[in-house]
Amino acid sequence: MDHDLIRRLYGKGARVYDAVFGPLLDRGRRMAVDAVNASDAGSVLEVGVGTGRSLPHYRADLDVTGIDLSPEMLARARARGAGLPQVRALLEMDAQNMSFPDAHFGAVVAMYVATVVPDMARLFDELKRVCVPGGLVLVVNHIAAEAGVVAAFDRLVAPATRAVALRSDLRLSALVATAGLEPVGVDDAGIGGYIKLIRFRND
Ligand SMILES: C[S@@+](CC[C@H](N)C(=O)[O-])C[C@H]1O[C@@H](n2cnc3c(N)ncnc32)[C@H](O)[C@@H]1O
Repeated sequence: MDHDLIRRLYGKGARVYDAVFGPLLDRGRRMAVDAVNASDAGSVLEVGVGTGRSLPHYRADLDVTGIDLSPEMLARARARGAGLPQVRALLEMDAQNMSFPDAHFGAVVAMYVATVVPDMARLFDELKRVCVPGGLVLVVNHIAAEAGVVAAFDRLVAPATRAVALRSDLRLSALVATAGLEPVGVDDAGIGGYIKLIRFRND
C-alpha cells in the first residue's frame, strides 16, 4: 500500500475516524499508555498518532512526540493536544523513515499502525533505532488467530481489508519474527482478545 493511497484514505476518513474507531479501540490505547505511564521513560514517540486519542492520557510530566503521514489526521491530533503539557510536537513524518537521531526516545508506541504501513520490517527497524537500548517498544494491533474458524474468516476478508490499507491476517508469530525482539508480555486488549498489546524491550 503506497503512501499516497494511505494519505488519501486517511484524508477522507479523518472526519469520521473517531466515531468509527474511537471507543471501539480505546481499551488497547489506554493499556499502552498506562504501560508507558508506569515506566521510567521520560520521552515517548507515538507513530501513526492519528487523531491523537491517546494524547490526553499520557502523564503530564512526559515528553510526547507524535508523527503521522496524514495532514488531516494530524490536524485533529493538534487540536486535541493543544495546551497539554506532555505534548512536545506533532509532526508529519513517515514512520518507516524517521528524521530523529538514534536512541532518542525512552519509549516508542505503535497503535493500530503495524498492519497499515507498507513495510512492517522497516517500521520495526526504525522503532528500534530511535528507541534507547532497553527502552519500551509497544505495539497494539489486531492479531489474527493462528487456527480455527476465526483464522479462516481472517484469511477470507484479507483481500478486502488490504484494499483499505489494512491487513487483517497478521499472526503474532509473524509480528514477533519481524520485530526481531522477544516480547516481554502479550495481553488481550479488546474485542474478545482480537486486539493485543505486545510489549517488547529494545534489547
Ligand atoms: C488505524 S490509524 C491508527 C491511529 C491511532 N494510532 C489510533 O490509535 O487511533 C493508522 C494511522 O497510521 C498512519 N500511518 C499510516 N502509515 C504511516 C506511516 N508510514 N508513517 C506514519 N503514519 C502512518 C495513518 O495516517 C493513520 O493515522
